[in-house]
Amino acid sequence: MAQDAIALLEADHHRVEELFREFKSAGDPQAKLHLAQVICMELTLHAMVEEEIFYPAFARATGDEQVLQHALKEHAEIKELIAKVLTAENLDGAIEAVKQHTLHHVDDERKGMFAKARASGMELATLGGQIQARRAEVADAIQEA
Ligand SMILES: [Fe+2]
Ligand SMILES: [Fe+2]
Repeated sequence: MAQDAIALLEADHHRVEELFREFKSAGDPQAKLHLAQVICMELTLHAMVEEEIFYPAFARATGDEQVLQHALKEHAEIKELIAKVLTAENLDGAIEAVKQHTLHHVDDERKGMFAKARASGMELATLGGQIQARRAEVADAIQEA
């Protein structure tokens, strides 16, 4: 049986929270740059599967347009910040901005959308399977590029 969609998305959240901690404690500029790239890539992939799979399923199950639009607005803000990271003169500052917005958004998802999704009886296992398949597909495409 596929993993629960919320468990998968929360595993992403925890992985990124850990990457932010690694970035903070890394001393070497090359290591920091690499971690910054991994953070941006993980967040981009995570936002993609949420927007393609989880968010639409949430909207269909709950009809909660307000929660959906709020989450999409936060994604748009985070994407704008991500776009600035790799050309930033101050990498620490750029990652800090991504981190603050991301932690806030993750907190909103946990307390709002995910709690509502669980209560709605959404097919979380089916969605989890779709998320895993989409992730694997994109990861393959990146490796081939
Ligand atoms: Fe999100
Ligand atoms: Fe998320």
